[in-house]
Amino acid sequence: MKIYRESAEGSATKIIAAARKSADIGNFETGEEILERRKGVSKLTSGSKNLDNLLGGGFETQSITEFFGEFGSGKTQIMHQAAVNATMPAETGGFDCDVLIIDTENTFRPERIIQMSKAKGLDPEVVLKRIHVARAYNSHHQILLAERASELAKEFPIRLLIVDSLTSHFRSEYMGRGALSERQQLLNRHMHELLKFSTIYNAVIAVTNQVSARPDVFFGDPTAPIGGNIVGHTATFRIYLRKSKGGKRIARLIDSPYLPEGETVIQVSEDGITDGV
Ligand code: GTP
Ligand code: MG
Repeated sequence: MKIYRESAEGSATKIIAAARKSADIGNFETGEEILERRKGVSKLTSGSKNLDNLLGGGFETQSITEFFGEFGSGKTQIMHQAAVNATMPAETGGFDCDVLIIDTENTFRPERIIQMSKAKGLDPEVVLKRIHVARAYNSHHQILLAERASELAKEFPIRLLIVDSLTSHFRSEYMGRGALSERQQLLNRHMHELLKFSTIYNAVIAVTNQVSARPDVFFGDPTAPIGGNIVGHTATFRIYLRKSKGGKRIARLIDSPYLPEGETVIQVSEDGITDGV
């Protein structure tokens, strides 16, 4: 196992160096270079085998995974579980890494991290020490925090960056059609910053998004995610969550570049995200 981990670290270092170089220079990459970088893609378990399978093995590094759905659909719970799982060793589907959470709605709960850690047989104190939470007070602050994430990543091995919620500040600050183009421009910049981080640090980016309750603005579909085409095109994996009976949630994969669309069932409980029984 040790040999595997050393070689994985070695190749990760090379990928990081190459990605930094191309990001710094603003360079073009050849197909061969992209293929080489893609070989470094790894997957983080969600806690549910069903959801992992839907995602082709778990949350993928070097891309953005978006969960959208109505209030209480389990988005924040999935983010908490991903944060706990990321600290686990590779043998159990983790990255043995630190986590950065940009919390825009003040919904991060260390108590949930403790419960989920115990359910996984992890030491909650160790897990909590590895999760770095930044509260974003408005959309500009949120953008700034994402830009500064790489400073934290120089100090800690951050390979999971969570933004919960990606869109809530933008939605409340830029109301109406007149503000739409500025909002979309800022969201676009923010998402590309996140994508850059995912490439440079071979990291998973997981974001949450709400559905529209304003059919007048969002094309008449109350289950449409916020953020329109900008969010839709930049997120590599989009999962729509629906409530079901007894803590169950239905997760539907939408618009993936190479995976089939599909649905699966996950369970939200005190222990966190699982397949249930
Ligand atoms: P918004 O942020 O409001 O859009 O919702 P969300 O999608 O982030 O919902 P969230 O992940 O916060 O889910 C809340 C739901 O998770 C609750 O209504 C409960 O059903 C469930 N939940 C949260 N904590 C627990 C827990 O400790 N035990 C159990 N059984 N369920 C929980
Ligand atoms: Mg939430």
